[in-house]
Amino acid sequence: MKIAMIGAGYVGLVTGTCFSELGNCVLCVDNDVEKIKKLKKGIIPIYEPGLDELVHKNTKAKRLSFTSEIEEAVQVSDIIFIAVGTPPKENGEADLSSVEKVSSIIADVMTEYKLVVGKSTVPVNTGKWIKRTINIRNTKGIDFDVASNPEFLREGSAINDFLYPDRIVIGVESERAKSILYELYKPIDAPILVTDIESAEIIKHASNSFLATKISFINAISILCERAGADVKKVAEGMGLDKRIGSDFLNAGAGFGGFCFPKDLSAFIKIAEDLGYDFRLLREVEQINEEQKKGIVKKIRENLWNLRGKTIGILGLSFKPNTDDIRYAPSIDIIGELIKEGVRIKAYDPKAMERTKKIFPNITYCKDAYEVCDGSDALVFLTEWDEFKNLDVKKVKDLLKTPIIVDGRNIFDPETLKEIGFVYTGVGRK
Ligand code: UGA
Repeated sequence: MKIAMIGAGYVGLVTGTCFSELGNCVLCVDNDVEKIKKLKKGIIPIYEPGLDELVHKNTKAKRLSFTSEIEEAVQVSDIIFIAVGTPPKENGEADLSSVEKVSSIIADVMTEYKLVVGKSTVPVNTGKWIKRTINIRNTKGIDFDVASNPEFLREGSAINDFLYPDRIVIGVESERAKSILYELYKPIDAPILVTDIESAEIIKHASNSFLATKISFINAISILCERAGADVKKVAEGMGLDKRIGSDFLNAGAGFGGFCFPKDLSAFIKIAEDLGYDFRLLREVEQINEEQKKGIVKKIRENLWNLRGKTIGILGLSFKPNTDDIRYAPSIDIIGELIKEGVRIKAYDPKAMERTKKIFPNITYCKDAYEVCDGSDALVFLTEWDEFKNLDVKKVKDLLKTPIIVDGRNIFDPETLKEIGFVYTGVGRK
């Protein structure tokens, strides 16, 4: 099939590349001319495991190409995915101006049937607006369909999530749209749920909000565990063994970040508000997450007494492992707070230092974890990268000025570290 992927951001680039891997002919479009130039040269703007190889393989096979000419892409394609950014406005609402702009261009350019599929995370009823926008300009009455096909890709495992998903959701209004999307997803072995467009749109926000709720729930439990002398890891394990609850997304820690959960939560709260419902539950989920980040600073303070003039080593800057993404990462708030308190920061992250330098140009970036430890008054873990799990903790202890660890991701076993002589504080642990 011939596909236009409008928007070569995270979602568009991964999804477009994976569709080409399935044998389709994909043209990825972006109005960022520099980005397209780089992509044409094979330079991938984001770090996502396995993406480089797939882009190179499929560009070489001429199934994947890049352009900044949206008109050309619309003309030559049967299916047009809208995967443009929907950044949050001040009030939490998603900014849909790019979606509107793309819809207008599609209407102006199309000369034959097109299936227009919403891929960006959008508020419910966006499909209706896309349809209306195209209809108004579609003076020649060319046939088209609108559909919604939300993505459930996680950064760091996006390719695998695309190729082996738990489910594929397609929101459609016509048999024609349904059969095109069925055909497109035929090579993937996963249940396909067919819904109306509005339900598909809500499934996306509801899923992310539910996962964020699970995380805030276990983070709230972690506070109870700390006060009662229980271990949140054991509590989560005990809960997760119940199939109705499930063990995923029950890891207590420094709070959730990334460009999806925080943004989608506030967007969903606003959508609910517009529909006349105060989604108090989700407001509390947000609140608990904010408190969780502050909780890490509190733990550091409780261990170090005075913060001013101290040196704190931070390991992990990205919002989660296997990505260089630092958007809404807990590390950003926590480092910002520590700097305000007069702390000197030494930091290391396997992939996210270049991006963090743009926000905190004046902190010390180290070549590895051990350089961070050298002379630091405490070591704080904010992302559970695999390479941190395998650190030589005895060496870490020798390098630190004082053997204090605040483990914001519960990477280590508290007893083992205490035996070695660390003063160890995890999240929700004895
Ligand atoms: C999330 C969803 O998991 C995807 O299904 C969805 O497609 C994507 O958002 C999106 O809307 O595009 P992502 O933001 O890449 O994916 O990352 P997650 O793996 O969901 O992690 C989000 C945050 O929650 C991270 O900061 C992570 O550290 C935190 N987290 C996750 C926890 O604190 N505890 C957990 O148990 C799990």
